[in-house]
Amino acid sequence: MADKGFESLRLILCFASFIVTLHLVHGDLSYSIPEEMKRDSVIGNLAKDLGFDLRTLSSRNARVDFEGTRKRYCDINLSTGELVTSERMDRESLCGKKPSCVVKVDLVLENPLELHRLSLHVQDVNDNSPKFRENLIEMEISESADKGNRFSIEEAHDADIGQNAVQRYSLQKNDNFILAVDSNKVELVLENTLDRERQNEIKLLLTALDGGSPQRSGTVVIHVTVLDANDNAPVFSQAVYKASLPENSPPDTIVINVSATDADEGVNGDVTYQFGHVADDDGNVFSIDPKTGEIRVTGVIDFEERSSFEMRVQAKDGLGLTSYAKVIIDVTDMNDNAPVIYLKSLTNPIPENVSPGTEVGIINVQDRDSENNRQVRCSIQQGVPFKLVPSIKNYYSLVTTGQLDRELVSDYNITITATDEGSPPLSSSKTVQLSVADINDNPPVFEEQSYSAYVTENNKPGSTLCSVTARDPDWRQNGTVIYSLLPGEVNGAPVSSYLSVNGDTGAIHAVRSFDYEQFRSFKFHVMARDNGSPPLSSNVTVSVFISDVNDNSPQILYPAPEGNSFMTELVPKAAHGGSLVSKVIAVDADSGQNAWLSYHIVKSTDPGLFTIGLHSGEIRTQRDISESDSMKQNLIVAVKDNGQPSLSATCSMYLLISDNLAEVPELKDISYDEKNSKLTSYLIIALVSVSTFFLTFIIIILGVRFCRRRKPRLLFDGAVAIPSAYLPPNYADVDGTGTLRSAYNYDAYLTTGSRTSDFKFVTSYNDNTLPADQTLRKSPSDFADPFEDLEPSVEVGTFQSASLLTMRF
Ligand SMILES: *[C@@H]1O[C@H](CO)[C@@H](O)[C@H](O)[C@H]1NC(C)=O
Ligand SMILES: *[C@@H]1O[C@H](CO)[C@@H](O)[C@H](O)[C@H]1NC(C)=O
Ligand SMILES: *[C@@H]1O[C@H](CO)[C@@H](O)[C@H](O)[C@H]1NC(C)=O
Repeated sequence: MADKGFESLRLILCFASFIVTLHLVHGDLSYSIPEEMKRDSVIGNLAKDLGFDLRTLSSRNARVDFEGTRKRYCDINLSTGELVTSERMDRESLCGKKPSCVVKVDLVLENPLELHRLSLHVQDVNDNSPKFRENLIEMEISESADKGNRFSIEEAHDADIGQNAVQRYSLQKNDNFILAVDSNKVELVLENTLDRERQNEIKLLLTALDGGSPQRSGTVVIHVTVLDANDNAPVFSQAVYKASLPENSPPDTIVINVSATDADEGVNGDVTYQFGHVADDDGNVFSIDPKTGEIRVTGVIDFEERSSFEMRVQAKDGLGLTSYAKVIIDVTDMNDNAPVIYLKSLTNPIPENVSPGTEVGIINVQDRDSENNRQVRCSIQQGVPFKLVPSIKNYYSLVTTGQLDRELVSDYNITITATDEGSPPLSSSKTVQLSVADINDNPPVFEEQSYSAYVTENNKPGSTLCSVTARDPDWRQNGTVIYSLLPGEVNGAPVSSYLSVNGDTGAIHAVRSFDYEQFRSFKFHVMARDNGSPPLSSNVTVSVFISDVNDNSPQILYPAPEGNSFMTELVPKAAHGGSLVSKVIAVDADSGQNAWLSYHIVKSTDPGLFTIGLHSGEIRTQRDISESDSMKQNLIVAVKDNGQPSLSATCSMYLLISDNLAEVPELKDISYDEKNSKLTSYLIIALVSVSTFFLTFIIIILGVRFCRRRKPRLLFDGAVAIPSAYLPPNYADVDGTGTLRSAYNYDAYLTTGSRTSDFKFVTSYNDNTLPADQTLRKSPSDFADPFEDLEPSVEVGTFQSASLLTMRF
């Protein structure tokens, strides 16, 4: 054991001496020198080490030789005996990476030739820095590289060896990489994954350090380009897009622009848009531009159909990563729907007697728009008796505001207008047709307040007198007028025995012939009735005026008709010319001109002696009576009325010119002259019977009159019924015409009355009726004047009773 330890110690000592001590061994001398020594640096003292003295060296011509190289790295300084460097010695170029670098030098001495081998151990000096092949290392690493991935870096090179060679590396601090140095291998290890989108390139400074002293280093820049991986889905700028879109927006209107960005590059970052799942209906309404994300209208946007749309929009990058956003499109209402008026119920027709305020219909108004656009105001046209009464929500009642009258307005076209409150407002209107149903509320009304018919007497039965017309404005049977006579009496006989009325036409016909001399006028009532249920009726008074026809001859009251009279007038012999001798009295049952009598002497015994008043009938002497005049004078007087044609009667007048009746012995003869005596006895009988009858009649009349004092007019309908009788010469001859003036009174009454409404001449009078102007012509005004009194009376005295008959008209 001790032996062995000693041995080791000796070895170490030997090794040490090898390096630091000179080898004095002949022919094998070693020197250790650092490389890169300066020129003429002393390597060692050969003379001393080899034991030569300086003279020997120079005498023996000592010199150094080199094997195989032309370079002389060292030389011998003969004056000092030192080996000095003559050339730079670079270990790296001499020996490269060899761990030991020995330069063999031969020391040659001549005389005798002596050779010493010298070994120059060139020691390394840290004269080289570590060095990378390039200054910049470009690397491309995909961002998808996994953690722990390794990327080799070419290692640095250092020409030095040993400690002076590259000993370690250091990497600039960074987020992603750490350095792993293994024997001869330098690697970047991905410690944190890359994100191109955050940092698309990384510059790392890698430093290689050697172990020399002073330490040398070399650096390289590692430029890492992070390659994109499609690791990013597109990202929408908003999770939810909201847009509001007016309805009815035309196609191509841009609604909203969605946009998504993709952090990736190239294809990986190319975003295209499309709708996600949409209902089929919505798919036609909008389109999305795949490139720009613009959403446009393609279909019809109707608020009333859809008020909002919700869609998903997909953004997709080139390699198919997708993301979604929601698009909510609120459609805003436009006033695009006019209100619609619905007639919910209608009472049609409405009876005209409904009371004001009656509901006749119900109207509903609807507007499909919303909010203000669906607020509707409803109005009704002016000027109709209806109004709208708002009822529950959008319902209106159509009610009457006044009394309806079918006869005034039978149909209404009621225009109802509904206007909404949109801007601009929309409106619509509806016309409701309403008919008013008839109620029998109008009685027939005669066109005239009263009717007058004028008919000449002796009319044909069946002739039309006049026609009445009544109108009833009601509808159909409620307005159908039927005419009838109201029961009444005319002269004690039912009116229907005189007249008939055509129920349909209102024409009034005479049933029999009328006699003016019997009655001149009468009244009756015609009723017009409608056919309603219950019927309504009204009546009207019809006055019939019968006009005279000259159908009665004048009747001579005095003197008695020819041949039946003993009446003889005495004419005093002393009568002067112009004295009244007698008077012919005649009446005519007719009236007016038909009763206007004129008197003519047709024949006379002495034509020059007597004249007769044309209208008075007064017989007067024309001259004084003379003795020569015949005692018996005979006149034949004709009485004519003024009718067309005129009728006449004649009578004989016996005049006796004498102062004393006793002087007339042959009174009988006068009559006997022309008539036989038989007739005289008949006449006496007739006279007696007539007188008796007349007396009786008067008594009856008086009796009746006494009983009915208040009704004095019942006696006669006219003065026409005076029977033929003798009347004394003082017969009340009021107007001097010899005619009862009642007819004129009557005519005058007619004439004056025509100015009042009592007797109104209508244009539709009967043919038999006298027109008013004709009547006027027939009534001379000079006759009318004296008879202003509308109720004249005529007093007629008889020679038999001396009682007075007052006849009123
Ligand atoms: C109502 O309208 C109808 C049809 O439009 C028309 O025939 C009728 O004459 C009108 N009536 C009124 C009273 O205007
Ligand atoms: C006539 O009037 C009655 C009511 O007075 C009514 O009921 C009827 O319908 C009317 N007739 C016609 C045809 O209008
Ligand atoms: C005729 O009409 C009048 C009023 O115009 C009336 O007072 C009278 O009662 C009516 N007569 C008949 C029978 O209807």
